[in-house]
Amino acid sequence: MSTADELARILEEAGVAFEAAGSLQDLRETRARFLGKKGTVTAALRSLGGLPADERALAGQQVNRTKGEVEALFEARKAALERSARSRDLAEHRLDVTLPGAAPPRGHLHPIARVERDMCAFFRTLGYSIEDGPEVETDFHNFGALNFPEDHPARDLQDTIFVEGGNLLRTHTSNVQIRAMTGREPPFRFVAPGRVYRHDLDATHYPMFHQIEAFCVGEDVTFAHLKGTLYAFARHLFGQDARVRFRAHFFPFTEPSAEMDVTWGEGWLEWGGCGMIHPKVLANCGIDPDRWQGFAFGMAIDRTAMLRYGIGNIRHLFDGDVRVLEQL
Ligand code: DAH
Repeated sequence: MSTADELARILEEAGVAFEAAGSLQDLRETRARFLGKKGTVTAALRSLGGLPADERALAGQQVNRTKGEVEALFEARKAALERSARSRDLAEHRLDVTLPGAAPPRGHLHPIARVERDMCAFFRTLGYSIEDGPEVETDFHNFGALNFPEDHPARDLQDTIFVEGGNLLRTHTSNVQIRAMTGREPPFRFVAPGRVYRHDLDATHYPMFHQIEAFCVGEDVTFAHLKGTLYAFARHLFGQDARVRFRAHFFPFTEPSAEMDVTWGEGWLEWGGCGMIHPKVLANCGIDPDRWQGFAFGMAIDRTAMLRYGIGNIRHLFDGDVRVLEQL
């Protein structure tokens, strides 16, 4: 057989063999049969040396052309195999963007935070500033400056939780009155929400709860302003039909003092305490009580949240049980 016939056969064989290779691995192995060390094309190249000199040049050209053609067939098949591998991959890992997604759970503010923010937003519309105070407090700020006598039973009645070093966990947000008024020149009005602590636990009491304190001092601030503010606050929280009633009461830091109730359904709900800031409290803060007077009130935020969200047991607010909080 002539060299040309031999090479034509090799080329045809390579074409058929490469087509038959089903994978890139197969294809590489098949290539070795032609172009590898022991491949047929390589053998043809080697056999050139045995040819007479006058035939060698032409045969060399023919073998080299065939070698190039086999290479080209290999590359073409390789590209085809790679293309189909890629489309298979795409088909297998197809992403159906029309499938419904997995919705990540969405959180929401705690009911207390919601009510607290709602309350603060209301007072901001009346020109109040938000004021903060410490939860670990001195006896002076929590009791003394608020006109609690040294051995007044009120200090026990409040079930105070003391901490090491003689300080205590504030039993009410009234401490912020002292902290905010001291060193400030009236007129001013503040609202102070925050956590307070008492040694107490049942369905409606928890050792930690939240109060909101409001106080307003000016030259001619009267009890009428206090009533008007509380009425507006009640209507904001409980609706336009809400009413407020006042019962005479005693607090060391206000004079006169009252407890107030707000309408709830058919009845009344105990809502908080209020009064005209005691002249001694003003004086304790360096404010001249002959010139300035003001009102203050304070109430629990938790109770409002319980009413608003229909929560029967205060523990549900603080247990941190997501199943409960999700319902609110
Ligand atoms: N501090 C009182 C308490 O925790 C509530 C209170 C009563 C606050 C009368 C006031 C007030 O500002 O004027 O029971």
